[in-house]
Amino acid sequence: KSCVVYAPGTVANLVCGFDILGLCLSDPADKMEVRLLHEKKIIIKSADGYPLPENPEENTAGAPIIEMLREINEEVGFEILIHKHIKPGSGIGSSAASAAGAVVAANHLLGNRFPKSDLLRFAMFGEKVASGVKHADNVAPCIYGGITLIRSISPLDVIPLDAPDLFVTIVHPQIEVRTADARAVLRQNVQLKSAIRQWGNIAGLVAGICNKDPDLIGRSLEDVIIEPIRSQLIPGFAEVKEKCRQAGALGGGISGSGPSIFMLSKNEQTAKDVAAVMQNIYHNLGIDFYTYMSQINKEGVKVV
Ligand code: HSE
Repeated sequence: KSCVVYAPGTVANLVCGFDILGLCLSDPADKMEVRLLHEKKIIIKSADGYPLPENPEENTAGAPIIEMLREINEEVGFEILIHKHIKPGSGIGSSAASAAGAVVAANHLLGNRFPKSDLLRFAMFGEKVASGVKHADNVAPCIYGGITLIRSISPLDVIPLDAPDLFVTIVHPQIEVRTADARAVLRQNVQLKSAIRQWGNIAGLVAGICNKDPDLIGRSLEDVIIEPIRSQLIPGFAEVKEKCRQAGALGGGISGSGPSIFMLSKNEQTAKDVAAVMQNIYHNLGIDFYTYMSQINKEGVKVV
């Protein structure tokens, strides 16, 4: 028995929603071919020659499967062939896609015996391998689709939100920002006035998403705690933010821990104008880049 899954990229954090809000992208997505084995074994292979760790314990797809198999008293295992289309280290949920894709595929091959909340719990072990922290803001939207709110990771409490139809433009400047480094630079203490501004924005963002109010979403896309520090690691960040808003974007910020930057737009034409602005900025800075045009993917990992 085997299946193919498409595991999409994700944007998490949604600016002020550090570690708690994420959205699922329609593009790019990893393709994973997964085969059920009748022995307790996990085989991981990279389809495109991309160097991925083949030891399951060190692999973001392998670690979640190890956790899943711990809860099954059967002689089963999986062979996983990964076509890595989401560049690792890009900030658009490459590790989360591998983790979520693996558990959704494995669950499908086992007759869907685990609910999504369990799949999320397993997938978070992949994030631990990737960044040292079991954050759920990428794996949750990848598994549930749309936009998800992680109210708490201990105990795990995930709230899928009814996502509006927005367009997402992403630029990935070709510089390396490791998640572990981008977490290490953060301060551990927050001033009360910054916290108040931040939770006002988070509440506004969630209300804007639920009420499908793009202008409220735009006003709330402000981060006074994480972004001022992390953005220093990303050349061109301030210019991208300012000029994309001028081009009509609702707003945006650092995707994941960077270096990618995302912008939300109400319509496709604005999203294209925003892509042109991003391309122009990185072209002028002499930094290679990719741009992605996407929509909010309400389905999440897709089994075909
Ligand atoms: N929420 C995580 C962070 C996402 O910003 O560190 C990393 O992909």
